[in-house]
Parts: sequence; C-alpha cells; structure tokens
Amino acid sequence: MSLAANGMNDHTAAPCPKEIDQNEKAEIEGHRRRGSLKKILKELDELFLIEQRFDLAPYVHWKGNSVAPMHRWFRYREAYSPELIDKLELGCRILDPFCGCGSIPIGAATRGKKAVGIDLNPIAAFSTKVKLTPLNESSIKNVKSFLEELPKNIFSHDRWPQPELSIATKVFEPRVLDMVLRSRAAIEFCFSNNTDARDFVFLAWLSILETVGSYYKEGNGIKYRNKRRKKGKYEDRVDGEWQLARFGSDQEKFFIDAFSKQLSMMIEDSALWESGSWEGQKVIGGSAFNLSDFTRGDNFDSVIFSPPYANRFDYFESFKVELWFGNFVKSYADLGSLRKASMRSHLNADLKRPATPPESLEDLIALMDQEASSWRMGVPDLMRGYFHDLGIVLRQCRAAVPKGKCHIVVGNSAFAGVIIPTDVLTAIIGLKVGFKKAKILETRHLTVAPQQRNLLKGFESYMRESIVVLE
Ligand SMILES: C[S@@+](CC[C@H](N)C(=O)[O-])C[C@H]1O[C@@H](n2cnc3c(N)ncnc32)[C@H](O)[C@@H]1O
Repeated sequence: MSLAANGMNDHTAAPCPKEIDQNEKAEIEGHRRRGSLKKILKELDELFLIEQRFDLAPYVHWKGNSVAPMHRWFRYREAYSPELIDKLELGCRILDPFCGCGSIPIGAATRGKKAVGIDLNPIAAFSTKVKLTPLNESSIKNVKSFLEELPKNIFSHDRWPQPELSIATKVFEPRVLDMVLRSRAAIEFCFSNNTDARDFVFLAWLSILETVGSYYKEGNGIKYRNKRRKKGKYEDRVDGEWQLARFGSDQEKFFIDAFSKQLSMMIEDSALWESGSWEGQKVIGGSAFNLSDFTRGDNFDSVIFSPPYANRFDYFESFKVELWFGNFVKSYADLGSLRKASMRSHLNADLKRPATPPESLEDLIALMDQEASSWRMGVPDLMRGYFHDLGIVLRQCRAAVPKGKCHIVVGNSAFAGVIIPTDVLTAIIGLKVGFKKAKILETRHLTVAPQQRNLLKGFESYMRESIVVLE
C-alpha cells in the first residue's frame, strides 16, 4: 500500500519507535508539569480570600483616560481611573508611588484630598506636574494669544535643534519634522519668562507628536504608519499614498490643526482648576525604590499604585520619541539609565541587581519550559527581580501608611507554560514586609498570549487582573 493510500504522505511518515519514546516522554513530562502547576496555583490561591469584584473592572483599565477632562491631556494607555479613590474609599492623604500621568493626584485634587505621586518616567511626572499647576488668568491669556497666532508664531522661528535619536527623520515626514522643530522653538521663545505657561503649551506639543508622526505606539514599542497590519503580518503601504491618506496634501495645516485642537481642549479643561484643592499636591520625578527619601517620614491614610506589570513591556521604548524630542533624554546613555532604574518588568531593566524573591516563585520557575524563547531571554531572572523590587517598594509603603491600607493593582502573567500569580505573590510579600492582613479583589480576566494558549488550557481562570489590599 502506498503512503498516500494509507492516509499519509511523505511528510507524515510513521514515527520510528525511538520517536514514539521521545513523544511519550514529552507527553508524560507535560502531564506532570501541568499537575504540579495546578497544585501550586491552587495552594497559593487558598492562602488568601479572593473576592470577585468584577464591578471594579472598568476602573483598573481605564478607557476614560482619553476623554475625561484634564486626564486626556496626555495619552497614557497604562492608566487606571481616579474613581478608584471613591470605590476603594481611600483616605484624605494618598500616596501613589507609580503615579504615571497623575490619575490619582488629579483625582485627589478634584475631590479636595491631598496626594503625593512619584514616577520614574520624566514625561509622566512632567505631565502630572502640569496638570497640578493651575495657570493664573494672565497666563491663560498668554496661551490664548499664542494659539490665535499659531501659524505666524511657528513660521517666524527657525528650527529647534533636532535630537540625536537615530530614527528622528524616520518618525516624522520631512515637512512635519520642520513644523515640529519650528513650533518647539516658538514655544521656548514666546514663553521664555513664564515657565508655567511654557510647560502647559509644551505638554500640548508633546502630546500631539504621535498624532502628527509617522509612528504610533503599539505592543512593546512603536510601529510605522507606512506599514499596514494584515492577518498577522505587516505589508508596505505605497509611498506618497499613505501620507496623503493620513495627513492630506497640506502637512503644515495638518500639524497646525492638531496643535490648535489640543491647545483649545486643554484651555477648555483648565476650568477644572476653578474648584477642588490644587495647592500642596506633589509630584516627584524619581524611583519608587527611594520612596522613603521623598516622603521623609510623612504618614498617609492610603497608598494605591499599579506597578508596571511583569509582561516585558518597556515604557521607555514606547515613549522614546517623546523622551528624545522633549529633551527628557539627551543621549542613549540617559535612556539606558532610565531603563536600568525601572522596575524589573522588562528585559532592558537591570537584571543583574541582586534579587531574593519568595520561595513559591522558585517552585513556579522550576516548572517553566526551558526550551521556550522567554526562558532563553532571561524571564526567570526577570521574575526574580520583579518581585524583589516589589518588596522594596512595599516595605516603604508599609512605613508610609502605618494605620491605613495599601492597594496594589496588578495583572498575572504567563511565561514558558507557567502562570505567575502576581496578585498572590504580592500578598505574600506584603505580609512579609509587615502588613498584617491581605486580601485579593479579582476584577477581571486577562487573555493568555496566543503562543501560551495551548499549554495553558484549563488554567485561564488564573489569568486575573486584581487589586491586592494590604493593611
Ligand atoms: C501601570 S503604570 C501606572 C499608571 C498610573 N497608575 C496612571 O494612572 O497613569 C506604571 C508606571 O510605573 C512607572 N515606573 C517604572 N519603574 C518605576 C520606578 N522604579 N519608580 C517609579 N515609577 C516607575 C512607569 O513609568 C509607569 O508610569
């Protein structure tokens, strides 16, 4: 009988006994791993009360960031909602050591509460600072006059020096780049004696870079608009056509319209400063690892934060255009330093810093598939570093909130066939650093990455986004 008649072709020749042996071994090993993983995850979950609070799902991953007044001044996909202040009944003095673009500090100000925010990303800290700094009437007037004369202001200035970012001419069309750099010079010139107004306009300028750019943020970095995603791959778009479709024939007008729209919206939202409590709000550009240096023994009623998730996402990669063009970094060494100082949630962080993670993490790492690419890239050390870093921050949070609660919004992750239950491990670390009680509010389920889906069939319910409450 021919192979074809037997339902086989030459690519699916019958396995030889040796291969059967290997396949069987792999299957038995896979079975053993899944059994051990199930046991460990179940035992870990049983350590804490896990309350289902799906009603909180809209607030941990917040779409309102792009439409809510003031919060919409700078797009930060990673933001959570200021409504968590009400939902979690936070106290009058709140600390957010990973404050991003200021969801909590702004939310606190509008509710008449006080907040201190910290973030390592200088753009995030800057954006929070601008939002927390009300402009007086005369500054608003200056901004309005700048806006009214925007084209004239831009065209009467030469270009600001182009940053040394290697892809600077790739991320903007030449005519757009000209507008970006001229308008930067116009801002510095027109507001040279009014820092608050300058910062306000500068934030508007920063936040339109992606809109006017030939790039956009996606996944773990940026993608170019001259490519289109089609069924899992990227195809080239016709040069000349895509620019016309995106910017129209007048790229200068496209830039001016985007800048005007952003500035007008920010001026409109500035009415928010007329009520609430804006004085005494504080934002610090720095690392949460040095939290106690910044808070200097201050006590807070509540702490809330969402650290970067352990998902290999490098914030400094996706914000590199804004970091360079805004002069927040002036060299690749500056960028490298930010990456190294960040929480070890991505592979560009400093994985060489020592780490002493919880024991249960090692049990989970031992079950990882060592053939998986994430293993080879160094995910085990990344995980060890991540939970070590979390411990450093939690210990200082404990000291900052001696009588109140600490809320941590986290997402579990999956690597090399293993789920890492970040929420439970955070609770374990919380108790270790001195909190007395811990519970977990499960807010929603996360999807497992396509390459992990088969391996983790049956484990989907462990992929949670939760709020860990420590007190
Ligand atoms: C999930 S985001 C927080 C977003 C924030 N809750 C908001 O609503 O905008 C995590 C933040 O941690 C910051 N980050 C990373 N490493 C840090 C560190 N060592 N210290 C302080 N912030 C850090 C990132 O820049 C990012 O803004």
